[in-house]
Amino acid sequence: MRVRRFLVVCVVLASFLVVGGLALAAPPSDPTTLAKGGQLYDKWWTAAGVAAPQGDQPLWSTQTTNTRKGLDTWRCKECHGWDYKGKDGAYSSGSHKTGFAGIVEASKTKPVEQIAAILKGSSNPNHDFTPALDDASINALAAFVKDGVDEDLSQYVDYATKKPKEANVPRGKQMYTDTCAACHGADGKTLNFGSEQEPEWVGTIAVDNPQEFLHKVTFGQPGAPMPAGVQLGWTLGDAADVLAHAQTLQAEPESVAPASEAALPTLQAAAQTPTRLPRTGEPTVLVALVVVIGLVLLASGWITRKLCRDRLKTPLR
Ligand code: HEC
Ligand code: HEC
Repeated sequence: MRVRRFLVVCVVLASFLVVGGLALAAPPSDPTTLAKGGQLYDKWWTAAGVAAPQGDQPLWSTQTTNTRKGLDTWRCKECHGWDYKGKDGAYSSGSHKTGFAGIVEASKTKPVEQIAAILKGSSNPNHDFTPALDDASINALAAFVKDGVDEDLSQYVDYATKKPKEANVPRGKQMYTDTCAACHGADGKTLNFGSEQEPEWVGTIAVDNPQEFLHKVTFGQPGAPMPAGVQLGWTLGDAADVLAHAQTLQAEPESVAPASEAALPTLQAAAQTPTRLPRTGEPTVLVALVVVIGLVLLASGWITRKLCRDRLKTPLR
């Protein structure tokens, strides 16, 4: 009788563990959704293929430090930053300063449903993007905030020097050659995002705004057929390697020669263990662990039962 009770307890416990583990290990958002969300964060009307908004975002007038007008005021990144840290990040000073908070805290503490609700105006009606964006876009944005946002880009970029903290330049060069050169050119000058007079090449962004570079390489460029690192299985460490190489490409017109690779002494050429994007991989390990624990418990129950049965079969002396 006791054996059976023990067995039942075992089974119940094991199934609790398995179910609990599965719930905890809810799979992270898929790369396609993350890329979509990251591009919406960059410039949502282009990424969603909807009409561009009119005037200034209604929350814009609650700050005075950033004097941009119109479309810029509607970009998530303009208020919350390329590093997702808002007033605590790269936009803590300079012409992009707004004083608005970042989204790192929400990413860490709020469930994805609540983040989606915030984008529908639940905490502030002026933060409602549903007049322009459908549920699929709102959900992709929320998934990006929850699973795509890195909590501290300063692990990868030195904010003062704008150089990658550690990077494998030869590896970055190889990745650039394989993945980027077809469109941007080996010298980075095939595509000019600026003007004839003030050219902006891939090297310009790399040097001027490494946080933006990391975001675009990881999530892709809205409205462009550019690949998203997250869909190629790239980590932020991988993107930082490409950044290191891109910073050696020409950044300014004429005169200034591009910095040679040898001129980047702080960069470690040593192979580097790639750093993972947040919250990928861990769930799989968790599930495996829980399943193993469950199996061990089940097995011990079975063994106990078998032992007791054998014991019962032996006649009492
Ligand atoms: C005009 C500026 C502005 C724009 C554009 C903007 N936000 Fe916000 N956002 C805010 C402000 C202000 C808050 C409230 C911050 C606070 O709690 O003080 C906020 C709050 C948030 C929060 C919740 C933060 C928290 O900790 O509770 C998230 C998540 C968020 N925004 C994501 C986005 C996304 C995604 C977009 C793009 C669709 C976006 N925001 C566009 C200004 C903006
Ligand atoms: C299939 C072509 C293609 C590939 C491959 C590609 N890109 Fe792009 N990229 C583009 C296009 C098109 C744009 C947008 C140009 C524009 O807005 O004028 C762009 C824009 C960018 C921008 C941002 C420009 C800005 O300021 O808005 C960066 C940075 C960038 N690419 C880096 C890279 C890197 C690094 C790689 C390799 C990992 C890469 N791209 C691969 C086509 C490509």
